[in-house]
Amino acid sequence: MNSVYTRIRILAVEIASCYPPVTFYADYMDQVDYSLDLFMTDPVIGRLRRHVAENIENDFGHGMAHSIKVALDAGTLVAVEMHGREVEGPDLAHRVRMAHCAGLLHDIRRKHADHAAQGALYAGPVLEDYGFDGADVADICVAIGNHEAFKTVAECRSEAGALLSDCLYDADKFRMGPENFTHTVWEMLSYADVPLTRFMALYPKGMAFLDRIRHTFRSPTGKIYGPRFIDLGLAIGKDLHECIRSEFF
Ligand SMILES: [Fe+2]
Ligand SMILES: [Fe+2]
Repeated sequence: MNSVYTRIRILAVEIASCYPPVTFYADYMDQVDYSLDLFMTDPVIGRLRRHVAENIENDFGHGMAHSIKVALDAGTLVAVEMHGREVEGPDLAHRVRMAHCAGLLHDIRRKHADHAAQGALYAGPVLEDYGFDGADVADICVAIGNHEAFKTVAECRSEAGALLSDCLYDADKFRMGPENFTHTVWEMLSYADVPLTRFMALYPKGMAFLDRIRHTFRSPTGKIYGPRFIDLGLAIGKDLHECIRSEFF
């Protein structure tokens, strides 16, 4: 990444640090810990993590780090939604493990056109080797196929499958909050030679896209916290735009 964008990224991180974070991780600390603990200790997830690390098309800011964050948050969201529904023990672990698998695999075909559908096609045969039955594999694949915004959402075969699909979508779109300006944009720019004038010309379109995402969250918890992530991202984006205009033009 060129030095101008490195300086702007540092500004973005500084601006983000001035705002209080979205309270999702603090409000659901138990579920965050549960998801993280399972992710780090489950042998199935450990094996799939290694597979994804070796095969993911690591570009555009949607590589392994992004997939891990989505997997962890999708697992947290599933655990939050199951809280109070008497789904616990091995049943809860199974559902959170499925969310982790969906998160790890969702962008495995990021460079391909229609990457969500291509990711679902890739995930099916892989998951059959990880001890999931056909119905579980189908649920994970439908969730992966449904993770792109503003596309037709395929129907899920069960309530559990629909929740998995919604939680994966929301965990992916949580990344379009502050992380968009502290990480993703710069990782995308590092793969493209975009002059600052062009970047600034595209800026309003990017902000408008984020604003549209604000209304697309799907799970009950995602509908509460998703708009907060997006609002925080938009506030950081607005401040950053002012800073770039005053310091670089
Ligand atoms: Fe994606
Ligand atoms: Fe993604």
